[in-house]
Amino acid sequence: MSEYHIPVMPVECMEALAVGTGKLYFDGTLGGGGHTSEILKRGGRVIATDRDMEAIDHSRMRLSQISEYNGRYTLVKDNFKNVLEVLKAHEADSIDGAILDLGISSHQVDEALRGFSYNGNGLLDMRMDRDQYLSAMTVVNERTEEELSRIIYTYGEERFARKIAKSICEARKKSPIETTKRLADIVKSCVPESRKGGHPAKKTFQAIRIEVNNELSGLGEAISDIVSVLKPGGRIAVISFHSLEDRTVKQTFRTLASDCICDKSLPVCVCNHKASVKLVGKYKPSAAETASNSRAQSATLRVAEKL
Ligand SMILES: C[S@@+](CC[C@H](N)C(=O)[O-])C[C@H]1O[C@@H](n2cnc3c(N)ncnc32)[C@H](O)[C@@H]1O
Repeated sequence: MSEYHIPVMPVECMEALAVGTGKLYFDGTLGGGGHTSEILKRGGRVIATDRDMEAIDHSRMRLSQISEYNGRYTLVKDNFKNVLEVLKAHEADSIDGAILDLGISSHQVDEALRGFSYNGNGLLDMRMDRDQYLSAMTVVNERTEEELSRIIYTYGEERFARKIAKSICEARKKSPIETTKRLADIVKSCVPESRKGGHPAKKTFQAIRIEVNNELSGLGEAISDIVSVLKPGGRIAVISFHSLEDRTVKQTFRTLASDCICDKSLPVCVCNHKASVKLVGKYKPSAAETASNSRAQSATLRVAEKL
């Protein structure tokens, strides 16, 4: 098992995707290569993307150590939102299945220098793709109080968003906020100690990370694009880790599974929409898995099948 990242619900995902010899899969979120390895182990082929070069390098090294995987995987540094271009570039017209394991890897969080962690101390970075310009330092130091408040409230579902945004703006007048520790301390001072549900800065860090990496925008479109190239009977499995992501996955699957997407107020259907998938199910990790991997606790897996 990779220490870089322990894959979440690997068995459930492989069963849901009915992975088999010679079948081609798209893994949009390669990370430590956990799910990709499971597919390769079962004889499948994989085209995988990750927007983080470190994940690509790590997985390339890991997979290259197993000779029987040779020639069955292609790793591409790209955003999974470009799935159609990536598949076309590798002459894949259609796929047998796809997996998206959203969010960040344990390695990205654990590596304090990547600036994702409220526990460690590193420069405020939070970029999955280090070639991108926008970092957490820019968001925290340059956005207006109103914008920060909106980001923290919307993406973190943080009820103390206004207070936190105000404190950030006051603190940065003294000197720019450059480290995760300083940001975590500012947030901590705004959230009552009695609040349950993990570290007081958890929601704010999640919100800033989502903003920096533009995580929610285009997710629904990416799922629709993946579905458009799935073979009939092929499946897509999406693992999300917070309610905002899961809501997008759920709504996209529902729309794709509907024969009509007209406004409910219309007396007759005018949309001509046709369902392209059927919903297979929603799954949570087992108690045994959450006991051994606390990160799995908030995971929700949703699966849909191409009609
Ligand atoms: C939860 S980890 C995936 C772990 C992987 N399934 C495994 O078992 O090792 C999420 C990974 O997806 C990447 N990622 C997140 N959003 C992405 C996107 N839109 N495009 C490409 N990669 C993305 C992150 O950089 C991270 O490496």
